[in-house]
Amino acid sequence: MEREYLAARTSHLHYYTAIPLYYVNREGKFGLYKPSGKALDEMRIAGGQVPNRLYIKRTAKLRGFSEVQRAFNRQLEGHIQSGNPESVKIGKIRIHPEILTAPRKLTAEEFGRIKAHPTIGYNLLDTCRFPHTEIKLCALQHHEKTDGSGYPRGLTRIAPMAEIVGLIDCYEALTNDDRPYRNAMDPIQGLTIIKDDVVAGRFSRDVFKKFAYSLL
Ligand SMILES: [Fe+2]
Repeated sequence: MEREYLAARTSHLHYYTAIPLYYVNREGKFGLYKPSGKALDEMRIAGGQVPNRLYIKRTAKLRGFSEVQRAFNRQLEGHIQSGNPESVKIGKIRIHPEILTAPRKLTAEEFGRIKAHPTIGYNLLDTCRFPHTEIKLCALQHHEKTDGSGYPRGLTRIAPMAEIVGLIDCYEALTNDDRPYRNAMDPIQGLTIIKDDVVAGRFSRDVFKKFAYSLL
């Protein structure tokens, strides 16, 4: 019986609409939890108001993968069109939240994992056959710096869009994120720090000027 069903990933549950989901009842038998044509509410999933384990039929595996892929791409495109800089940080979904929010200096191994997120993000988008090459490059290169001090590859020639996104990401991290170890800066403080990066050759002057004027 079990071989007919596959456990669905919790992170995929809200993407399933056409694909029905099944649960295991108290007698250990599979029953229909969500019929085809309906989607689960994301808040209910996040709030743990659905069974711990939900399943799809093994015969629906490929259709399920394709539904998740399409829904994921639509969501990502929505983020990108709304200018949400989170979209290029997609690789962070594979990094443990404890590392992302640790209020302490990271170990070399932990920092190595953080530095892998651009490559992870690029590979995820590639695996999902995400169609926009420029966006994939932004995911891959948004931590590269024009003096070669960035990661993951230490490039000095960066895709123009990736450099813009990298600068915005940096500004957003300085001014919007209330990190556990410091408070958000005001816009002038944030720009001053990025200007130091420009002087040191880590961002191009032209991109910085355009960005700073866009805030006026
Ligand atoms: Fe990032």
